[in-house]
Amino acid sequence: MAKEKAKGRPKKCHRVTTSGDIEVSTYLEIAKEMGGEQPAAAREAIPSAEREAIIVIDFGSQYSLLIARRVRECQVYCELVNPDTPWEKIARLNPKGFILSGGPASVYTPGAPLAPAYIYESHLPVMGICYGMQVLAHQLGGQVTPGTKHEYGHAVLHLSAANSPLFADLPGSSPVWMSHGDKIEKLPPGFIDLAYTENSPLAVMGKDDKIFGLQFHPEVAHTPEGKKILKNFVHRVCGCKGNWTMSNFIQDSLASIQEQVGKGKVINALSGGVDSAVVATLIHRAVGDQLTCIFVNHGMLRREEVERTFNVFRLNLGMNIVYVDASQRFLKRLTGVTDPETKRKAVGGEFIRVFEEEAKKIGKVDFLAQGTLYPDVIESASTTSAAAKIKTHHNVGGLPAKMTLKLLEPLRYLFKDEVRKVGLALGLPEEMVWRQPFPGPGLAIRIIGEVTREKIEILQAADWVVMNEIKKANLYRQLWQSFAILTDVRSVGVMGDYRTYGYLVAVRAVTSEDAMTADWARLPYDVLARISNRIVNEVPGVNRVVYDITSKPPSTIEWE
Ligand code: XMP
Repeated sequence: MAKEKAKGRPKKCHRVTTSGDIEVSTYLEIAKEMGGEQPAAAREAIPSAEREAIIVIDFGSQYSLLIARRVRECQVYCELVNPDTPWEKIARLNPKGFILSGGPASVYTPGAPLAPAYIYESHLPVMGICYGMQVLAHQLGGQVTPGTKHEYGHAVLHLSAANSPLFADLPGSSPVWMSHGDKIEKLPPGFIDLAYTENSPLAVMGKDDKIFGLQFHPEVAHTPEGKKILKNFVHRVCGCKGNWTMSNFIQDSLASIQEQVGKGKVINALSGGVDSAVVATLIHRAVGDQLTCIFVNHGMLRREEVERTFNVFRLNLGMNIVYVDASQRFLKRLTGVTDPETKRKAVGGEFIRVFEEEAKKIGKVDFLAQGTLYPDVIESASTTSAAAKIKTHHNVGGLPAKMTLKLLEPLRYLFKDEVRKVGLALGLPEEMVWRQPFPGPGLAIRIIGEVTREKIEILQAADWVVMNEIKKANLYRQLWQSFAILTDVRSVGVMGDYRTYGYLVAVRAVTSEDAMTADWARLPYDVLARISNRIVNEVPGVNRVVYDITSKPPSTIEWE
C-alpha cells in the first residue's frame, strides 16, 4: 500500500473555494439558481491543432494537480484525466506523453485503478510516479511487493545511468521526497535500473529512453531537482516545444469566445476579485458590448472597493456595467441576524435575487460568464459533466420558469497563478491582479453579531488601516489574507483623562497555499504596533486591538 495519504484532495465545501476568491462560489450558486447549463465539451480555450499536451492519468494522489502545474511551468499544456477516460477525448488534446500519478491504492488490491490500454498502445512516452511506477511494473510483467518498511520523507537519489535523457543537467546525487509502501521487486522485461536510494535499489527504472518509473515525487518542493526531471521528460523525452504561454492562451481564448458566443449576449457578476476581473476583461476584449457586467454592491465591501473597480472597468476599459447599490436592502435583510450561517445564506440569497432582477432588465441573455478555475473543475468533476443540467429553483423570486443560460468559463483550464499572468497581460492593474481573496458575504462575516451600518463603518475604517500598513510594509503579496474583525466584545480603556468603553478589534493575517490550511503570519512587532496605534487613534469607538495567533485548523481563516 503506497503510503501516500489516502485522503486524496480535500472535498470542496460550501464556504471555501479552491481559488480562495469570492466569485467561484457566488457564481456557481447563481448558475444553479438560474438553471445554468454546464458547457458540453469545454475544450474551447485550449490547444489548437499545433498545440501539444501532456496528460496526467490521475490515480488519486494528493499531488496530481501539482504535477500538472509543474508541467505547465515548463510551458507545456497539461491536463488531468481519470484512468477510464476514453482515448478519443485524449486524442483531441494532441498528447505528446503521459504521466501516471501516484495514488493511495496498491496494484494488488481488487479494483485498483490501472493504466488504460492506450497508454501502451499509443507508443508515446510515459512516466509513472510512485503508484504510477508500480502500475507500469505490474502491467508490463514486473513484480511489485508490499513493502515491509514504508519509506516516507527525505532520501538521497544516486544516479546509476547519468546519461539518461531524464537526468540531463542533474548532479550525481540529490535529495528526493519518498512516500510509498509497495516497491518494485523485479523489473519488467526490457527495463533497466537508472537510479537508487538507500532503501530503494530500484528508485528509477526505464526502457528505451521512453518509459520511466520514479519511486519518488519529482513534483513536490522537497525534491529540488524534480522540476528539472519533469522538464527533461516533457522536452527531451516527449519532444514538446513549449508553446503554452499566456499570450497564446489569450489569442486562442479570444477566438474561441467569439466562436462560442456568436451574436449572443453575456452577463457576468463583477466583484473586483481577480477571477471575475480577468473573465470580464477577456470576454469584453472578445465580444465588446455583447457583455454586460452586473456589479451588486451589498454594502459590505471594503472602503473604496466600488470606486476602484469602477475606475478600472468602466473608465479605463469602457465596459458596460450595471451598478446596483443594494446596501440598504441587504442591511434590512440582515437585521436581527447573528448566526454566521444564516448571515451567509441571507447575503447569498439576496445577492442572487438582485442579480436576477438586473439580468431580467437586460432582456434576452444567452451566457453567464464564470470565473471557474481548473482546481475547481477537478474538485467538482462529478458535478460538471455535460449531463449535470441544473434545474431552475422556482422558489427564487422573479425568475422566469426556465431561464437557461449557457456557461462561459474561459478560465476553466487555468491555475490561479496563470490567471494572474493573463490579467497582467491583458493590462489589468497589479493591485487588482494581486488582490487578496475576499469572502462573498464580505464584511458581514467579519462583524461578530448583528450587522449594523455603524459597525460596517467602524470595520471599514479598521480594515483600511490594516491594509494600508500591510502594504506599506511590503507584506501584502506574501500574505494569503490580512484583515480586521469587529468583535462584539467591549472593554474599558482610557483616552486622555476619560474612561472609554469601546469595541475590541481583532487583526488576522495568514499565510496559506490554498486556504484549506493556514498559519498565522509572524508579522513584525513594529507593523503590529503601527496597526494597533492607528486603529485606536483613527477609528472612533475602538479602544483595544488584539492579534489572532491561531492557525487553521483548528480555527478557520474567517471568524464566522
Ligand atoms: P475559512 O474561513 O473557511 O475560509 O477558513 C477559507 C477561504 O474562503 C473564504 N471564505 C469565503 N468565500 N464565501 C466566499 O466566497 C464565503 O462565505 C466564505 N467564507 C470564507 C475566506 O476568505 C478564505 O479565503
